[in-house]
Amino acid sequence: MSRIACIDGVIHAPEDAKVSVYDRGFLYGDSVFETIRTYGGRPFALDEHVQRLERSAAQVAIPMPIDRAAFAAEIERALAAAANPESYVRATLTRGTGPLGLDPRLAAHPLRVILVEPLKLLPAAMYRDGVAVITHRTERACDAAHGAKVGNYLASVLAIRKACDVGAHEALIINTAGQIVEGTTSNVFVVRGRTLITPPEEAGILAGITRAHILAIADEAGLSVELRPLVPDDVRAADEVFLSSSLRELLPVVVVDGAPIGSGKPGPNTRALHLAFRRHVGMGDAKAPWVD
Ligand SMILES: Cc1ncc(COP(=O)(O)O)c(C=O)c1O
Repeated sequence: MSRIACIDGVIHAPEDAKVSVYDRGFLYGDSVFETIRTYGGRPFALDEHVQRLERSAAQVAIPMPIDRAAFAAEIERALAAAANPESYVRATLTRGTGPLGLDPRLAAHPLRVILVEPLKLLPAAMYRDGVAVITHRTERACDAAHGAKVGNYLASVLAIRKACDVGAHEALIINTAGQIVEGTTSNVFVVRGRTLITPPEEAGILAGITRAHILAIADEAGLSVELRPLVPDDVRAADEVFLSSSLRELLPVVVVDGAPIGSGKPGPNTRALHLAFRRHVGMGDAKAPWVD
């Protein structure tokens, strides 16, 4: 199992991977990023991730230093160098290094860093029993960047800190309009009857790639889809709630702010949808994530 860091196309061991203290990603959170995982050693939805990175970069006016195909090839090369059975990839693009000062023109050369680590999955018990979450009202840097996956996650870091304080796994972000938009690093879904409900992109969410694939296969689990803003009462009155992200796939939520959701156990629709998702990503024959 190995960890590697690829900086501007050059592969380093983690202990040798260094970037400047004048990098604007470090100084101002002036960066965008992607998190990708492999299935069977192959990066899942790589094109979609690199496209989203390009969209995020365009949103905050960081020029792509290499084109999408070259970026994807660099990620593949980093994965091949790490040679893990399954990997986690963190691809970051910063505005680069320059003298102190907020003016983005002070940095001329964006920096790209691809970190590859062995994939670590959540314990089966979290899928078997479900997790607790809190709700947390805040404004995030990405709210000003119209859904770009920007490097500044400070508001979400503070939300997770609150969640950890009460033993919860994730914080559902409530925006200034009082709507539940998503988790700190996940999208949120509610099941009511046979309907799957999740906020639309315009609600100020990150357009999750797992979310998009779940919506595309919902009918395989016999669910119809409704895209609409969610308010806390929707979540409290839900039959089932789950989170989605590249690393967690679908993770059942059974407690919100200390109160049980539905039966208080992961629900049958979440399970059916998760199995459909596992088939969709080519893992249909592997044991389910909730099996030890
Ligand atoms: C704010 C936010 N929403 C949603 C997600 C889930 O996105 P994806 O399914 O593309 O991993 C993430 C992932 O990191 C995130 O940071």
